[in-house]
Amino acid sequence: MAQSQAASSVTYIGKARARVDGPLKVTGTARYASDHNLPGMLYAVPVGATIAKGTIKDIDTARARQMPGVRAILKRGDLPPIAKITANFGESLMVDEPRPPFDDDTVRYYGQYVALAVADTFEQAKAAADAVAVTYAAETPNVDPHLVAKETKVASERGNAEKGFASAPVTIDALYAISPETHNPIETHATVATWDGDELTLYETSQGVINHRNVLADMLGLPRHKVRVIAKFIGSGFGSKLWPWSQSPLAAAAAMKLGKPIKLVLSRPMMFHAVGHRPRIEQRVRLGASRDGKLVSLQQDYVNSTSILDDYEENCGEATPHMYSVPNLRVTSGLAKRNIGTPTAMRGPGAVPGLFATESAMDELAAKLGMDPVELHLINEPQLDEGLGVPFSSRHLKECLTLGAEKFGWPKRDPKIGSMKRDGKTLGWGMAACSWLAARFDCTAAIELRDDGTVRVSSASQDIGTGTYTVMAQMVAETLSIAIERVEVVIGDSSLPSGALSGGSMLTASLIAPIDAAIAAAGAALITQASAGKNTPFSGVDAKKLQFSRGKVTAKDGGSATAFDEVLRALKVKSVSGQGSGEGTFGIEGKPKFSSHSFGAHFVEVMWQPEIARLRVSRVVSVFDAGRIINPLAARNQIEGAVVMGIGMALFEGTEYDARSGAPVNANFADYVVATNADIPALDVHFIEYPDFNLNTLGARGVGEIGLAGTAAALTNAIYHATGVRVRELPMKIESLL
Ligand code: MOS
Repeated sequence: MAQSQAASSVTYIGKARARVDGPLKVTGTARYASDHNLPGMLYAVPVGATIAKGTIKDIDTARARQMPGVRAILKRGDLPPIAKITANFGESLMVDEPRPPFDDDTVRYYGQYVALAVADTFEQAKAAADAVAVTYAAETPNVDPHLVAKETKVASERGNAEKGFASAPVTIDALYAISPETHNPIETHATVATWDGDELTLYETSQGVINHRNVLADMLGLPRHKVRVIAKFIGSGFGSKLWPWSQSPLAAAAAMKLGKPIKLVLSRPMMFHAVGHRPRIEQRVRLGASRDGKLVSLQQDYVNSTSILDDYEENCGEATPHMYSVPNLRVTSGLAKRNIGTPTAMRGPGAVPGLFATESAMDELAAKLGMDPVELHLINEPQLDEGLGVPFSSRHLKECLTLGAEKFGWPKRDPKIGSMKRDGKTLGWGMAACSWLAARFDCTAAIELRDDGTVRVSSASQDIGTGTYTVMAQMVAETLSIAIERVEVVIGDSSLPSGALSGGSMLTASLIAPIDAAIAAAGAALITQASAGKNTPFSGVDAKKLQFSRGKVTAKDGGSATAFDEVLRALKVKSVSGQGSGEGTFGIEGKPKFSSHSFGAHFVEVMWQPEIARLRVSRVVSVFDAGRIINPLAARNQIEGAVVMGIGMALFEGTEYDARSGAPVNANFADYVVATNADIPALDVHFIEYPDFNLNTLGARGVGEIGLAGTAAALTNAIYHATGVRVRELPMKIESLL
């Protein structure tokens, strides 16, 4: 049979595959937003407020306007109207800072854009921006790191958590805090805006070209088909590029006003002002347990800082209700307004800081009980999602814990603080479990089968550096049984069929159904033509008796199979196309049938030398239950990057705001310390592959964010084991260990 012959051909799904776009990147030919240069293009540099609270009294542009090459200094009242958007996830109309740029004379955070200098060159625009003299009536900003919520809401509740806590023989009651973390992708935010009549094209740093198009069209009062957003390559985003920030409408409006293309690229310091950050979060966790370690109560009360303009909430209870079996649980949330720019999603929003607190508390409980922390997790493993009251689609956390323990050598751990030594150094071994949601977005893709044997797959989705080009090529090559080199992937353009966001680790799972459906649709179109047209092996055969499978047309009752390109050549037809869609599962109201999450466990070893106050991370073993892994190389790369970020979160990263000016004082790579290669040991990553067929036909979930979840807790738990010091505030300060 033709089908079984075809089935023996090469498979791509589940095989390590280097990036199909790798050569473009390493040769410098991949074009990022700021690489676009257009005829007559001008450069724009924003002027940021140098106060964090107060009123603009005057903006004196006289000197700046006289400077060489300067075309305009734009401020409030100088731009075409920019409408205020009400964020709406369901309509793909999400915006971070809701206030249109230059909307009023009130300053609410340091670095808020107050004017825009436009000149012939970047240097001229920068010099002019620096020469703009702004007079403020400044007030004392509130950037107080200590957070007290005006009101709190119950995010999740079951049983009676307070009663359970009061009656528990063993309890933990601790406060955990994380400093604000600022996203620092290598590529800073950039917009190149160009008008052709009433049509706007934006080369953008965007994790969602469709959403970006919708927002910019609505802001500028244009029909959506008049706006095109292009983001072919993105130097990562980590959530900071999910939704548009003010620099994009500023560039578009300035380009409209001046009748020239505008390039606006943020500087590294500006990345700390008006393009989001993970807010400061304080959490109180109370655990109650029986003497044999069964949880009886869990309370998590978190407060995050947010901006004056927005109510962004970090959902720190995202993982809490389903992580552990516990009859009594209560999670509350609260906000504290600060004169700081609007925060936004940062890799693993909610779950990452939430699990730092709950997984630290679990380790504290294990220590208090004199129980092994792996054992404590195992005996509190739930049978179903006790928050939703539904079964898990696929949960194999126990195997992550046991396999991780085995790979790490955990049974050799001596629980006594500071008791383990190697080469004269004190070893600390810590672990933590983790979870991240698994879901799909609505997504559409198109397929074009061509007579030269190549295939074009397209979708208005984007690759933020995670490997989307590659996994899409793998999916198409696999389904059509063709060499991967024959697949052309076209994404990163809002004019393509409406795709999904690169967010929430959901894009891979979202693309599977639409690509399958698009291939089926293209195959059906091919069958129709093969049957109706002349000179094909199927001419005159009833189309209902034909099928398209693994890239070939064949009669359902057997006979020889003919590849799509051969059929097209016989027909003298260049190509045949199809489009397909998949429905999302994310954000749907009501109770789902399954609780869908990925799970994992991290095991960390630190080496501590108190004589010289030196702490090194010497080993990390991480095991994940993330469904079927489509590309183990890209997936491991995602996890490694996330673990590096977790080490940075635990040890280095924190944005410091000056109490007087409200300025982020470490707004550069010398003072805002991120983990570097020298801080990172070899990372040992394992996937236990249980396909989650409730999510899609390949059983694949995403793996971008889960690698960061739990990492910081595993590390600080290891620090406790080495030193006896509990690090409850991130980043750790080395002096706290002495
Ligand atoms: Mo991710 S924080 O959804 O980019």
